[in-house]
Amino acid sequence: MPESKKTKDTATESAELYHPSKEVIKAAHVKDYDKLYKESIEDREGFWAKEAKKLEWYRKWDKVLDDSNKPFYKWFTGGKTNIVQNAIDRHQKTWRRNKLAFIWEGEPGDVRTMSYHALNREVSKFANVLKSMGVRKGEIVTIYMPQIPELPIAMLACAKIGAAHSVVYGGFSVEALATRIEDANSRVLVTADGGWRRGKITDLKGIANQAIERSPTIEVCITVKRTGQEVYMENDRDFWYHDLMGLPIASAYCDTEKTDSEDMLFILYTSGTTGRPKGLVHTHGGYSVYTATTHKYVFDIKDEDRWWCAADPGWVTGHSYLVYAPLINGSTIMMYEGAPNHPYPNRWWNMIEKYGITILYTSPTAIRGLMRFGSQWPKRHNLETLRLLGSVGEPINPEAWKWYHEVIGGGRCPIMDTWWQTETGGFMITPLPITPLKPGSATKPFFGNEVGVVKEDGTDAKAGEEGKLVIKAPWPGMARTIMGDPDRFIDTYWKEYAKQGWYKAGDSARIDEDGYIWVIGRIDDVIKVSGYRLGTAEVESAMVSHADVAEAAAIAVPHELKGNAIHAYVILRTGVAGNKALAESLKEHVSKELGPIARPEVINFMESLPKTRSGKIMRRVLKARAMGVDEGDLSTLEE
Ligand code: WT7
Repeated sequence: MPESKKTKDTATESAELYHPSKEVIKAAHVKDYDKLYKESIEDREGFWAKEAKKLEWYRKWDKVLDDSNKPFYKWFTGGKTNIVQNAIDRHQKTWRRNKLAFIWEGEPGDVRTMSYHALNREVSKFANVLKSMGVRKGEIVTIYMPQIPELPIAMLACAKIGAAHSVVYGGFSVEALATRIEDANSRVLVTADGGWRRGKITDLKGIANQAIERSPTIEVCITVKRTGQEVYMENDRDFWYHDLMGLPIASAYCDTEKTDSEDMLFILYTSGTTGRPKGLVHTHGGYSVYTATTHKYVFDIKDEDRWWCAADPGWVTGHSYLVYAPLINGSTIMMYEGAPNHPYPNRWWNMIEKYGITILYTSPTAIRGLMRFGSQWPKRHNLETLRLLGSVGEPINPEAWKWYHEVIGGGRCPIMDTWWQTETGGFMITPLPITPLKPGSATKPFFGNEVGVVKEDGTDAKAGEEGKLVIKAPWPGMARTIMGDPDRFIDTYWKEYAKQGWYKAGDSARIDEDGYIWVIGRIDDVIKVSGYRLGTAEVESAMVSHADVAEAAAIAVPHELKGNAIHAYVILRTGVAGNKALAESLKEHVSKELGPIARPEVINFMESLPKTRSGKIMRRVLKARAMGVDEGDLSTLEE
């Protein structure tokens, strides 16, 4: 075997190959990647039309791809479908109405299961509740909930009546929730009193109440009773979910709105390079086709599977692969409310054994975190039902990959390392079960996708050379725009390679001699902490909202467990002294404003920050110093 030159975070092209077993190949939906890939590139629209025909449509599309107004691509125009038609309604006509849609386990150990029939009933009832609150087609409902079944129910109920949802991750806090409610102009908020996390109750309703105070648009707040503690409810504004669901208006019959392919299904906020979060818009038609197709081929979905995507529905991974794609594919979905190590580090492994999970899809951070407790925890359990594993959110280091493969997958389960983004809607670069794997590489483009790694001037980087990751052709799952800011959509993703018409992902990558793609990480001011995406600007704006802070800069520094940790550099207001207590209170403040994931690991008090002459903070200089490496070109640094 050639000598492997491994860096800490990513392996290189000389890594060893892992071949899938005969059984895996025999079971796979796709047997010949190269052939089908070639066909899908030569006739992209033909490929997607063929997949789209496998779904139900109220009215067939006129055009597969409308590229008359680039980069605002449209897919399946003229077609009418609703994602709920395929995710729920069509299953009612088959034996699948009796199949489990969800197996849910709460952190305290309570269990709920729901058939496709029951899911249809609950979604229809809540859809009628929303209608009774005056929710209309096109309106955006904000959802801020723990991982309980009512979260997907609320999402699906919005989609069913043609309203859009904006799910704000339950780990976010007041500021993040308030700005998102305001941007979406939401009139209705759906939340819960709390959720369970590591044996403690998260104060969701308390945070929601504070956010409502900052965002005057909310007229109605519907609260699910999950944890049962006393919460403040305001007359005429606040309603209990269970009260509303018990009213005669909450009938179990509700027509699914016949939405157009391009009608908005949801917006999902993601961090960018400025403080203002971007509300990416996804639509019913193309998104349904793209997520269902990727899920089915990459994870080789079969009716007997029990699929567990361990992401929170509050992120795009949860939207696409916990809720929508698996429901469209008629899967039985595992959903768990709480922490992976509560009450003991065998919690996940116990659930895999208990429910007979066949596919687990999670993040490198979760794997590293569980690996830390040692192999004795998974080894206590029989994990033989597992046949495929998945990874997403950040590059997976070969050490974690091998542990996942050997200890969790028993050496027999290929790992699908899927590269994608909130913007892409679904997997873009990913192995299939038949793909020989290299630990740390997301391998090859999915069907229809042309992926490049290019230099500044747009020419291809050489094999093994680092460059910018671009997507050279449109795909059905792509975000359609940034809500309310189409110019920013162009500026962020399409301007740099406007001449070629390519999508810029914001990541750097390499392609090796075998055509395997190695994603290295973000090249913009976006930080990936534990796989979560945060903008340095968001963290900085939370810091300066503290009374003692005059100026702040945030950077990402590699961290063994989280992938990256946030280091903050702070200039205090005159007269304030930096000390340990203040550093702690600043960390607490950021955590309270943005959410615990944004909590800085290290706070450094500074007299000044390195800036360019035009006044921009040079974060790369701070980073070089923090990591003790060469500071690079300092010619633009102001004295
Ligand atoms: C960014 C997108 C899409 C699901 C969750 C993240 C990084 C994502 C991988 C992977 C290396 C990855 C990239 C990307 N990323 N998956 N398999 N290997 N990096 O969605 O929050 O929109 O973040 O996550 O940097 O740009 P997101």
